[in-house]
Amino acid sequence: MKIYLAPMEGLADVHLRQLIAQTGGYDMVFTEFIRVVDQLLPEHVFLRQAPELENQGYTRCRTPVRVQLLGNHPEALASNANRACEMGSHGIDLNFGCPSKTVNASKGGAILLKEPETIYRVVKNVREQMPANQPLSAKMRLGFDDESTMWECAQAISEAGANEIIVHARTRSQGYKPPAYWHKAEDFEQTLQIPLTINGEIWTPDDAKRATTEANCQSLMLGRGAIRNPFLAQEIKNTERTAALWTDIAPLILEFWDSIVGSMSPRYCSGRLKQWLSYLRESYVQAEDLFSVIRKSTEVEDITTLLKREIEEV
Ligand SMILES: Cc1cc2nc3c(=O)[nH]c(=O)nc-3n(C[C@H](O)[C@H](O)[C@H](O)COP(=O)(O)O)c2cc1C
Repeated sequence: MKIYLAPMEGLADVHLRQLIAQTGGYDMVFTEFIRVVDQLLPEHVFLRQAPELENQGYTRCRTPVRVQLLGNHPEALASNANRACEMGSHGIDLNFGCPSKTVNASKGGAILLKEPETIYRVVKNVREQMPANQPLSAKMRLGFDDESTMWECAQAISEAGANEIIVHARTRSQGYKPPAYWHKAEDFEQTLQIPLTINGEIWTPDDAKRATTEANCQSLMLGRGAIRNPFLAQEIKNTERTAALWTDIAPLILEFWDSIVGSMSPRYCSGRLKQWLSYLRESYVQAEDLFSVIRKSTEVEDITTLLKREIEEV
């Protein structure tokens, strides 16, 4: 079984990627999308989104990192894919699933599911121009408004030469609302003859089993499930392992805080921590308590003191 950490813009940044990857079980982590319009982006843009490129494209604990690109311009995507690979990305992922209205308005993300021929051109051009030894994956939803173009898009991706297909098993209009329709991809791997990774609504080892069984594949991608429980990949792969306890999670929070305080502007730190806690509290009542304790604080020093007091007691 292969497990990927999903690209999550504004959430799974380098700090969370490092922490989640170090819990073990992840075969690869994906960066937040890098938006490509019609230009080759400067290296600093790649380094901002993927500082791991300075470490040969690995997290601190040596999990490979794959850069995700979003756009519709075949030439510009190909030149940026090449640059990302030269800088150390482990393959490239193309985003055909982003539901954001702004992104879709500029013909990026899920809107391209309405245009399988554009998907074909983009994938083909990127595949032909990027290094042959680097894998290309494409991440799609089941469709835009409905599933009417699902097969055409999936076929465009495989016929254009992508090496892997990742399916977030919902249409764009279904947003992030449960359920995810894993079984809709059940014939993908056999028909397309490329490996399928299934994604969407995998919160527990049991979900992982059902998702891969229903989608007929050996590979899955964890998104919000990994944010709520960073140890989820371990728990899926190692059936002996019991669910992570708060005592496993709490030290990660302190580590996360040190990491963001060490590298981010102080005005963003409290927001980032509260954002993660708002996911963790879905799984851990202690995260809810911690959230209430720091809720009114915005100053780094205050939060550091509160966190130490609350977490070091654990
Ligand atoms: C905050 C957030 C940001 C996301 N950003 C991206 C992104 O940059 N690229 C992408 O392909 N998908 C993005 N996604 C979608 C996820 O990769 C994933 O497909 C989706 O969350 C479904 O998986 P899940 O149910 O396990 O979370 C994002 C999702 C969330 C919640």
